Amino acid sequence: MHTLVVIPGDGIGREVVPVAVEALETLLPDLKTVEAEAGWDCFQRTGSAVPEATFQALRDSGAGIFGAVSSPTGQRVPGYRSAILQLRQVLQLNANLRPVRSWPCVSHRTGVDLMILRENSEGLYSGREHWESEGVAIAERVISRGACEALARRALEVAKARKARRITLVHKANVLPVTCGLFRDTCREVLEGEGWAAEIDERLVDLAALQLVEQPEAFDLIVTTNLFGDILSDIACHWSGGLGLAPSLNWGNGIALAEPVHGSAPDITGSGRANPIAAILSAALLLRYHWQKPAPAKRLETAVENFLREEGKADFGFETTQVVRRGILAAL
Ligand code: NAD
Ligand code: IPM
Ligand code: MN
Repeated sequence: MHTLVVIPGDGIGREVVPVAVEALETLLPDLKTVEAEAGWDCFQRTGSAVPEATFQALRDSGAGIFGAVSSPTGQRVPGYRSAILQLRQVLQLNANLRPVRSWPCVSHRTGVDLMILRENSEGLYSGREHWESEGVAIAERVISRGACEALARRALEVAKARKARRITLVHKANVLPVTCGLFRDTCREVLEGEGWAAEIDERLVDLAALQLVEQPEAFDLIVTTNLFGDILSDIACHWSGGLGLAPSLNWGNGIALAEPVHGSAPDITGSGRANPIAAILSAALLLRYHWQKPAPAKRLETAVENFLREEGKADFGFETTQVVRRGILAAL
């Protein structure tokens, strides 16, 4: 039996997560779900963005789906730190897998099929930011050998599973020789040491960003640090058809948390316009990579593909969430 912790969070997280859960329940009739809280709304009500009960539920079950949370931008709220960052760091969800592929009708290009594997717990997300003196602010970028090793081992697992031709390490070691140097050298050591026979390539992040726009087909599996992966995954998901189609999996040892790449989308919250496909495809990643259930994962992706082939050109406006929900559930 599988247990899934359901964390809708804020904004459209509450609209898209129930659809993904329904899809999982259809595929896994014995699925048990446990509701849990996290986010800005939760912080305002309880004083905690991630209550201990939510961490514990995830430790107990090992699997969850997370919608999105809102965060105040640019101002520090005492005691508040983004719920998703806490979940990633506390539960050591060290890698974040973000596939980008072409879909019928909605994608801006055919033939794209790449993955970004992003370090998910450190880098410029260390949380170490402070005022050095009046007018001078400092953020510390933490790169550790252990996290790079864990990421590279995960990269190998993904590369083997997808029969990757090439792994591209993306960094900025020309400007950050110590931190990015450690990242690049450690990843190479692990990949070469474990006998990765296919190509290991590397690219500076600025050129990688341009090439993701000009020639996304050139990439297979990109492995990169936390902030670079955050930015590159938003750029790359343009080719899938945008944030409404961009899934991810926060992935640790024994725990995984499916999460659409998009945020809480306050501009469309409550309008019915939120596309649940990113959340549904995140559930498929959980099935395939964490629960090791490739057959239902494939069924879900095929249902999305068939739905998009038939209906992808239409604009369902205020009915989007429900039309997509009905169409994909019917195709399962
Ligand atoms: P966003 O992803 O919430 O929205 C960006 C744009 O994409 C908006 O126009 C939105 O309407 C659209 N969009 C996003 N998801 C969509 C979907 N499923 N269907 C249709 N349209 C969709 O990014 P933002 O506006 O930069 O951030 C809003 C809030 O979300 C901020 O508080 C930010 O911190 C937070 N955020 C959270 C997460 C997360 O929880 N993982 C990720 C990104 C941003
Ligand atoms: C993402 C989001 C998060 C990140 C935010 C909400 C902290 O943008 O999952 O891509 O920067 O990692
Ligand atoms: Mn992001």
